[in-house]
Amino acid sequence: MTPPVLPGRLPLVGHALTLVRRPLELMSGADPDDDIAVLYGGWQPWYLVSSPELAQQIFVEDARKFDRGMIFEAVARIVGKTSLTADGDLHRQRRRLVQPTLDRRRIPEYAPTMASAAHDLVASWRDGERLPLDDLLNDFSFEVVTRTLVTAGIDEARVADFKRYLPPALAGITKSMYDPTGLMRHIPTPDNRRTNHAIRQVRATIADAVAYLRTSGEDHGDMLSTLVRDGHGLSDQEICDEAMALLVAGTETITSALSWAIHLMTESPEVQQRVQVELDEVLSGRPITVGDVPKLDYLRRMFTEILRLYPPGWLVSRRTLTEVRLGDVVVPARRPVFVCLYTLHRRKENFPDPDRFDPDRWLPERAKSLPREAYLPFSTGMHRCPGDHFAWTMASVLLAALCQRWHLTAAGDPITPTAAPTLRPSHLDVIVTSRGADRD
Ligand code: HEM
Repeated sequence: MTPPVLPGRLPLVGHALTLVRRPLELMSGADPDDDIAVLYGGWQPWYLVSSPELAQQIFVEDARKFDRGMIFEAVARIVGKTSLTADGDLHRQRRRLVQPTLDRRRIPEYAPTMASAAHDLVASWRDGERLPLDDLLNDFSFEVVTRTLVTAGIDEARVADFKRYLPPALAGITKSMYDPTGLMRHIPTPDNRRTNHAIRQVRATIADAVAYLRTSGEDHGDMLSTLVRDGHGLSDQEICDEAMALLVAGTETITSALSWAIHLMTESPEVQQRVQVELDEVLSGRPITVGDVPKLDYLRRMFTEILRLYPPGWLVSRRTLTEVRLGDVVVPARRPVFVCLYTLHRRKENFPDPDRFDPDRWLPERAKSLPREAYLPFSTGMHRCPGDHFAWTMASVLLAALCQRWHLTAAGDPITPTAAPTLRPSHLDVIVTSRGADRD
């Protein structure tokens, strides 16, 4: 069978430019009820999968018939072969190394850092202030991920450097994800020069920290210490690569999810109110701890729904290593395949009224008949995101700290979704109103 072709194919370039520049516009041309569609990268067909069964086949049953594909290859050109970007034995080896640092049992060690960063963020606001929350959430994610991951062995001056260079470095890396040629970042534009300089600075900072940990023999309990301690045989360069990969994987994704959570709460005052009521009941005004997270049922449903509507890793790439049959479609070897979590999560048969923000669709009695592979914000199978518990805890802690003290109202122009390259609201200007002195 020949699958439907997405609208908007241009001569020579096919859909490639639109995928880089306006990916959501391209995806909105896909019918989420088509299991598989085709878009063209130049003259070559690329396959876009939106069906739960095919996603399960690609991620789990036939996982060994695919490698990581275009998006991860683009990241590998900058951060090397790592747990995020490698295949085969190297992937298994790196994943074994990284996974314990993100294990559920380690999260309580990181939670105080998350809570103090969340507190510092929301405690400085003034009643009625208008805030660029997109920038502030970015800072929050960088702060938490860098403080839990790499900065224990770095002096204050270097931490300041790190904070300065990390955002442009990561923005540059993530921007290159949809550049199949890998050449764009070498064009000497001022923007590229800034990005490449920032990447070199971040690497140098991590390299200093690795050297310090090696010579001092200290173990700060952070992820970098773990990589140095347990990564027998890894060179300093490889440890730097792993740390960079975790920073890429862990910051932009969380900022994206938090941005949508805040945006949709400003759009749905009743959802915001239910989050606040639950926080008041469970926490009675005290700061959240990691032990409270499982008690916040409504917050969990709300955030589950956010990751359904706007999954940060909305497009997951693979490439066939051999001919693979996907449903009625035979995909030849060496073809790019993308599982589109954005369309997968909007299938009508699994999510009635799929565009509606409805946290209660995750009430146990309503969600019980949902097939497991219908909802895959963290993917599944051997590449399933190892940072899911970290991300959940970080998001819960921030949203709790914020909603306990503040009421949020949208300000500024209407918001449109952008995909740069995780899904983000176009801006997030918000007015914060204090919920009362008793909670300060
Ligand atoms: C809301 C936050 C997050 C979301 C939605 C998310 C989602 C994903 C997705 C969809 C993948 C691709 C899996 C695949 O190729 O099949 C992935 C991989 C990965 N993520 Fe996350 N992620 C998040 C946060 C994090 C954090 C906080 C970390 C670490 C600090 C992290 C580390 C990784 C790593 C190392 C991989 C590669 C796993 C492998 O290939 O074995 N992620 N993530």
